[in-house]
Amino acid sequence: MRRLKILFVSPEVDPFVKVGGLADMVGALPKEVAALGHDARVVCPLYGSTKRVGEWKARQEPLGVDVGAEARWARTWETALPGAEVPAYFIEHEEYFGRREVYSDAEDNVFRFAFFCRAALALCEQLQWIPDVIHCHDWTTGLLPVMLNTTLRDSALGRSATVFTIHNIEHQGQAPFGIVDFARLPVSEYRSDSLESRGHVNMLKAGLYHSSKITTVSPTYAREIRTREGSFGLDDVLRVRGADLMGILNGVDVANWDPATDTALPANFSADKLEGKAVCKAALQKQLGLVVDPKIAVFGVVARLVHQKGLDLLAESVGHITERMQVQFAILGSGDARVENAFRTGTERSAGKIGAHIGFDPRLARLIQAGSDFFVMPSRAEPCGLTQMYALRYGTVPVVRATGGLVDTVQDYVAGADQGTGFLFREANSAALYQAIGRACATYYDRPAELRAMQLRGMKVDFSWQTNAARYVDSYRWAIAARTGEAFVE
Ligand code: ADP
Ligand code: GLC
Repeated sequence: MRRLKILFVSPEVDPFVKVGGLADMVGALPKEVAALGHDARVVCPLYGSTKRVGEWKARQEPLGVDVGAEARWARTWETALPGAEVPAYFIEHEEYFGRREVYSDAEDNVFRFAFFCRAALALCEQLQWIPDVIHCHDWTTGLLPVMLNTTLRDSALGRSATVFTIHNIEHQGQAPFGIVDFARLPVSEYRSDSLESRGHVNMLKAGLYHSSKITTVSPTYAREIRTREGSFGLDDVLRVRGADLMGILNGVDVANWDPATDTALPANFSADKLEGKAVCKAALQKQLGLVVDPKIAVFGVVARLVHQKGLDLLAESVGHITERMQVQFAILGSGDARVENAFRTGTERSAGKIGAHIGFDPRLARLIQAGSDFFVMPSRAEPCGLTQMYALRYGTVPVVRATGGLVDTVQDYVAGADQGTGFLFREANSAALYQAIGRACATYYDRPAELRAMQLRGMKVDFSWQTNAARYVDSYRWAIAARTGEAFVE
């Protein structure tokens, strides 16, 4: 088997910079691909907020990046993913990435990432390391496959295949026409089966037209995004490229997310020795100002508070739920100001039944995963979702809407049938959420033995990356075959 060279190009990578699950995925998959014998590397921008974990070394040579009228200069830093020999490169450029935020509301946001794509490619040339496959992630990397297919087609890099992973089709990177010149792309690409969409450049769509193969992060989402309403306007390109699209479920970095060793927890536990979970529950109740009582069912939430996650449905009903049911809520998140305020007000009025922390706090996220009895995700859409898998591993039973990766990772409970790992509901409204929480609550109080069996089943599900990392390697070989005509040999 040939050893492949694979470059992951991503706007986020855990533990250096993280907004959501994309960072977790890109922090984990390259390690697994390397463990399968391949040369995997990662490149990411260096933001003002990036954490310099481990040893960092600046590369001597400045990096010339061909954008706009004259080349710009960047500095490259080199480190490695913790616990693995996977090189990670960071592109430093004060004007574009010096600010703290990863995604910015400023007008230059799309230009920053066009710059990043050119920089990633310039880095390969400088390293004289030509990847067999460039694995792109989400809209920020959408122009990279276009660069390979046009201005770089006849260079050494022109042989590199691309795999494009859609983590979230709702974010597409809409850019003004001027980005075509800035990214030094041929104006002839400004057409509806390439860069153009509704009078703008659509960076995600461009990536989907131009990459060798496409993946998304769960089989169910791969089906959903082919439909009119699930595609957010991109059903045409997904129909054209449908045969090149596959859904591969994300895995969990099982060494990093393990309740038996997690150092963020006040006590560790496992399926064979669950006592530590009660210690975590008490610590969670205390930290969030909830009434400390082991008998009350705690429902946890850790999420970006955006429309996609459906937490407005919880925000509007949480007061009512806590009046009617003997339950508590432990909530961590930030985003939509209205949802934040609803949870803040709920906390103030609830007398120890609702505890919300508004912000980003990885340690508290782990305590909520470990200390809750249930984990709530009323997502309107969920490409994969990692938090429900973390919850399952931490013995916390998910209550989730039946969409995307949630369908692929949580099996619905059937009373008396020894079956299921969580509670699923269909409609995206607060009545359906109310019912599902009611069903979970009734199981907790009325059928504790069944709930315990369900919890243990969830803890034993294998969410490790192993199988699915091998499927990504298949997608790489498939992409190489498409790009170069080189046979796909096992
Ligand atoms: P998404 O990528 O759509 O946000 P995922 O479930 O795939 O959803 O991943 C979310 C990741 O971000 C998880 O690792 C979760 O723990 C983390 N996370 C989300 N919100 C917060 C927060 N407020 N504080 C700390 N971690 C968070
Ligand atoms: C996106 C999706 C989430 C997925 C993550 C990692 O942020 O919203 O469902 O788990 O990417 O692929």
